[in-house]
Amino acid sequence: MNAQDIVKLKDQALAEADLSASLHDLEVVRIKYLGRKGLLPAIMEGLKDVPPAERPGIGKCANELKQALGARLDEIKARLQQAARSASRQLFDVTLPGAWRFRGARHPVSQVIEEAIAIFARMGFTVADGPDVETEWHNFDALNTPADHPSRDTQDTFWLGPGKLLRTQTSPVQIRVMEGRKPPVRIIAPGRCYRRDTTDATHSANFHQIEGLYVDRKVSMADLKGDITFFAHRMMGSDVKVRFRPHFFPFTEPSVEYDFSCHVCGGSGCRVCKNSGWIEISGAGMVNPKVFSKVGYDPDTCAGYAFGMGVERIAMIKYGIEDIRMLYDNDVRFLSQFG
Ligand code: PHE
Repeated sequence: MNAQDIVKLKDQALAEADLSASLHDLEVVRIKYLGRKGLLPAIMEGLKDVPPAERPGIGKCANELKQALGARLDEIKARLQQAARSASRQLFDVTLPGAWRFRGARHPVSQVIEEAIAIFARMGFTVADGPDVETEWHNFDALNTPADHPSRDTQDTFWLGPGKLLRTQTSPVQIRVMEGRKPPVRIIAPGRCYRRDTTDATHSANFHQIEGLYVDRKVSMADLKGDITFFAHRMMGSDVKVRFRPHFFPFTEPSVEYDFSCHVCGGSGCRVCKNSGWIEISGAGMVNPKVFSKVGYDPDTCAGYAFGMGVERIAMIKYGIEDIRMLYDNDVRFLSQFG
């Protein structure tokens, strides 16, 4: 084999390397030429039989073959590895929708309660609590509700035994708080209430109220109106109007019922507000001095307001829910919309 043959062999080796379509092909080429039993070591081995004058020329050519092929193999190997990496990246189709994991959402009733707590906290109210199973004293007697009042009737109240019932309102928490501490008092009390109502689109035997109670030396109806209006604007938006209508409750005097303008239709009338443009939220008023006397507060030096709020009512207008029963069907397709 002379120098020219080796130059040809080099061209052939480079051409074979160029044709390699995979790392495996490339390795075959490397072994064929540069491997321990390959062509190049055989040439080197044969050098000893070559006339001494030709040796340097052949040695030089052989060396060039080794260098050139080694460099070309490295280069092609890097290119093939790069191609393999980007091919495996293409296996991941970024346009496919991901695997959805089910995520829970806060119930709209809980959301309204949490928001209300935050809004009243800004006005200095803390949260008070009372039991669902109440005494007749806390739910009725101390709230100045006469023995023959229709709300005490077994048709309206779930009685659990003599003097024991499921609270029909959160107002008994007012009594528990005032029994337990001296004025000033500024609390809200969210919680479950129970009434023997037949369930329909706006009534449920089980619902939630938020009670509010503010007692100090000088508290007026103007405070009540201002605070409820502040709440309505924060909860529903500043375009919501609040309307107070005269009413009667045994534990407040004077008493009102109050409505929010319908958030869904803006007051023009829709199914949620039954075309009236208003949604009744609940009752309120100035704490009746008789209630102060029952809890040992001095009616001559104390004044206070109290209010109730129907949480489901607020949730219904806030989220445009037409039927209160949807809040209790536990249908995740419905509930997950409020996440
Ligand atoms: N407890 C009354 C109700 O359930 C609402 C109310 C609360 C009224 C506080 C006046 C003061 O209808």
